[in-house]
Amino acid sequence: MKAFILDRYGKKQALRLGDMPEPVPGPDYVVVEVEAAGLNLLDSKIRNGEFKPILPYKPPLVLGHDLAGTVAKVGAGVRRFKPGDAVYARPRDGQIGAFAHRIVVKNGDLALKPANLSMAEAASIPLVGLTAWQVLVERAQIKPGQKVLIHAGSGGVGTFAIQLAKHLGATVATTASATNAALVKELGADMVIDYRTQKFEEALSGYDVVLNSLDAKTLERSLRVLKPGGKLISISGPPDPAFAKAQGLNAVLRLVLRLTSAGIRKKAKRVGVDYSFLFMRADGAQLERITALIEDGTIRTVVDRTFPFEKLNAAFLYIETGRAKGKVVVTLK
Ligand SMILES: NC(=O)c1ccc[n+]([C@@H]2O[C@H](COP(=O)([O-])OP(=O)(O)OC[C@H]3O[C@@H](n4cnc5c(N)ncnc54)[C@H](OP(=O)(O)O)[C@@H]3O)[C@@H](O)[C@H]2O)c1
Repeated sequence: MKAFILDRYGKKQALRLGDMPEPVPGPDYVVVEVEAAGLNLLDSKIRNGEFKPILPYKPPLVLGHDLAGTVAKVGAGVRRFKPGDAVYARPRDGQIGAFAHRIVVKNGDLALKPANLSMAEAASIPLVGLTAWQVLVERAQIKPGQKVLIHAGSGGVGTFAIQLAKHLGATVATTASATNAALVKELGADMVIDYRTQKFEEALSGYDVVLNSLDAKTLERSLRVLKPGGKLISISGPPDPAFAKAQGLNAVLRLVLRLTSAGIRKKAKRVGVDYSFLFMRADGAQLERITALIEDGTIRTVVDRTFPFEKLNAAFLYIETGRAKGKVVVTLK
């Protein structure tokens, strides 16, 4: 089958359209005919080799963490899905490969596609939707009336997280440029800080939660927004010892992550804030709950651009500008 292949790690490494073996489903697996695949900066970072210590993939490798498509075949133990079902997923780490005509996905990572979405719209959701869910619902346990700052509200994670935080009853502030202010307001943001002209830490205080997806300076400045007992949750690093332990990393890596996160952990402790790093995981059951929120109109998709599958490398160049509004998707059908 046709797939985009990463032959070797490298920053400027283009993916090659070539042939890979047809996937064969094990008992708990489902073969999906991919109709659309979403791009994520995680794909770029893996390609660059930045994730080798944590996700040691061996090239040749097919990237792609988000897909929507039709079930082609199911393994003997699969009861939840049948051929012909429209589904979407973020396949678990170690089993990625959405930039291909077909992929095998573990049964538990899949959910039925929201009925009101096109395949392209559905492929834009799983990774960012699950990330927002795991930060705001699982880790932060947002309660109605709490104040939440979501950085980069116009990005893939941000556009979803604003809507989810509002649904949970929070007051939401977000950082965005003036050109994207109308978009994030329309998604539900109560307060928009233009990060090019304003200092968010001077405009906001007494916050319960900050979702950080930006650089180390923004992470540190975010401490000033939080009240004592507040939570600073970062998805862009630095990874902390709890993450290292949960990933089962070796002693050397655990020490490295302990050291690289020591500064922010110490500064957070000094002001009574809880710092943690979150790396999202695949979860079909959570994705089903997201499906319900999309179908009832609580959450909508924001797809900036759609490229044909053959233009995947151009789509990567686009997301790597850092200017995408919402998500970028390639379509196969
Ligand atoms: N740990 C995890 O599980 C996890 C999961 C998902 C994502 N991530 C990471 O989170 C980060 C964000 O991912 P993403 O997919 O949401 O990114 P993205 O969609 O590529 O973000 C692009 C958006 O960020 C905005 N932006 C850029 N600089 C900004 C700044 N200084 N302040 C406010 N907004 C800014 C841009 O708006 P303008 O054009 O107006 O600047 C643009 O709309 C990435 O590093 C990604 O790898 C981690």
